Amino acid sequence: MAEALNGLKRTNMCGDLRETHISNKVTVMGWVGTKRNLGGLVFIDLRDRTGLLQVVFGEEINKEAFQKADLVKPEYCIAITGEIIKRQSPNDNMPTGQVELKGASIKILSESETPPIYIKEDLDASENIRLKYRYLDLRRPDMQKILMIRHKTAKVIRDFLDENGFLEIETPMLTKSTPEGARDYLVPSRNYPGNFYALPQSPQLFKQLLMVSGYDKYFQIARCFRDEDLRSNRQPEFTQVDIEMSFVEEEDVIAVNEALIKKVFKEVVNEDVMLPMKRITYKEAMDKYGSDKPDLRFGMEIVDISEEVRECEFVVFKNAIDNGGSVRAIKVTNSADMGRKKLDKLGEFVKTYKAKGLAYIAYKEDEIKSPIAKFLSETQMQAILNKVEAKTGDLVLIVADKDSIVLQSLGALRLQLAKELEILKDNVEFNFVWVTEFPLVDYNEEENRYVAAHHPFTMPMDEDLQYLESEPGRVRAKAYDMVLNGEELGGGSIRIHDSSLQETMFKVLGFTQEKAWERFGFLLEAFKFGPPPHGGLAFGLDRIVMFLAGTENIKDVIAFPKNQNAFCPMTQAPNMVDDKQLEELGITKAEIKK
Ligand code: AMO
Ligand code: AMP
Repeated sequence: MAEALNGLKRTNMCGDLRETHISNKVTVMGWVGTKRNLGGLVFIDLRDRTGLLQVVFGEEINKEAFQKADLVKPEYCIAITGEIIKRQSPNDNMPTGQVELKGASIKILSESETPPIYIKEDLDASENIRLKYRYLDLRRPDMQKILMIRHKTAKVIRDFLDENGFLEIETPMLTKSTPEGARDYLVPSRNYPGNFYALPQSPQLFKQLLMVSGYDKYFQIARCFRDEDLRSNRQPEFTQVDIEMSFVEEEDVIAVNEALIKKVFKEVVNEDVMLPMKRITYKEAMDKYGSDKPDLRFGMEIVDISEEVRECEFVVFKNAIDNGGSVRAIKVTNSADMGRKKLDKLGEFVKTYKAKGLAYIAYKEDEIKSPIAKFLSETQMQAILNKVEAKTGDLVLIVADKDSIVLQSLGALRLQLAKELEILKDNVEFNFVWVTEFPLVDYNEEENRYVAAHHPFTMPMDEDLQYLESEPGRVRAKAYDMVLNGEELGGGSIRIHDSSLQETMFKVLGFTQEKAWERFGFLLEAFKFGPPPHGGLAFGLDRIVMFLAGTENIKDVIAFPKNQNAFCPMTQAPNMVDDKQLEELGITKAEIKK
């Protein structure tokens, strides 16, 4: 039976009690972790979000309270009043381990069934069960720690931006569908049957409009929605720290944002981030690491050996080069004796990135072992080894193909090897880098047109503006991403603030003027009224918290996330709705395609 508080007030949180509290009379409230009856003594570990406190009830001292304490079971919600005393057998592993609470009275505020998951750290339960009983999962101390880190992170961000003159302004959740990359989540309108709002993929256009309105420096901790394939660092509903500034260039945006991140890492996890952060151009990142979000915590850089093998007899290499591609390699130190099986597996691995094969050179003490040795002269072999700076004991892995395939597959192979060889096992560094000079557009072979690499409002680099209409593929953008340990934390750009340039950009992207106005007319219209030069960036808040909390699963940092299929096992969303609801929206239930 649940007892009421009846005026009983909590005086302390469990985890706060220390030797300085000895002799204090306190009332604590929380959940039963464990209960042990050692005959004449009942011990309860009481938990609230600050930690555990040991409580003891003695039969000799107060028989009634003792008997009641003996009734409690794990996860009962209780209140205990008593005196803090020195613990007879201290527990140095617990912050409150020097003291215990001598219970004088106990209220059972509510009982609990046996929970379907253990309320403990490092729980090894299936994700589905954890999400189904998320409220219990969130009762676990390690989850509570993460959500406290998230709270602190958001607070530090707000305080920093406030101190630096930014205003927090909300933008609509029900907005116009302006596809920016991912698929939109749509919301049917009752007032306009057959019409839809879209949930925002980001506040991009609204923050630019706020610049037109003169708000100068804006930020928002904004919920964003993208219907895309989910991964360990992607949720359909996630949070951005969204920032926009007027009268700025790249350097201004970069400076304020790296100072923000420095502050967050210092305040939340006491890590010193060295500023300025490193920079790398997109081209260099692709050439050396085969990725636009390079992990710079280890080397194993990609080296172009096209020149060294140009004259060799291996047709695969020759063809790749003759067709405008390249032959490139990575060197794996001290791995020359990698077994055949492992090498074959790596060969299979690169095939998932469309490479046709993986050649290797094992530079062993007594011999050079390589399936392509027969196609290479001794000089050519030596030239390759020199180029990649291989020493005895090293392994060289080679892919030949068109550049995009070579770089992507070797970039992925590099990361895979780091994992397999546990190169980063004890690495605790936070390695930040800005990636700059992104291409403005990518060619989309399926759609047979250029698409914006970032979004259509990104400003081309001044040097490349001349090629915008003639050779869009070679135009670089005033865009930048902040990358941490191989993950994209955030990205942004300087925006186009000139409506005629914006219209040219739409033209390059294959929009007719009509279509551009139909989709983005409100922005083009706004740009007729004195838009300031502006730019900004958005961080993935969830991703920042993942690093701060040391987890690789984005679901750990979101209180109520969706599973890998964008489903919520707890609420069962998405679900069917009543016919009446559909009717009001003017929607007839169509045959559902499975
Ligand atoms: P972008 O699309 O790069 O830029 O998004 C910014 C950051 O948001 C995070 N992010 C995600 N996090 C979790 N789940 C997702 N599905 C997800 N998608 C993105 C990433 C990413 O770096 N409007 C622009 C920003 C700008 O130009 O100012 C934008 O949305 O950390
Ligand atoms: P083969 O003569 O077919 O046995 O090939 C010799 C080696 O070249 C094998 O180890 C193949 O995996 C490798 N190989 C085949 N195609 C490529 C390619 N496109 N790039 C790099 N290595 C390749």
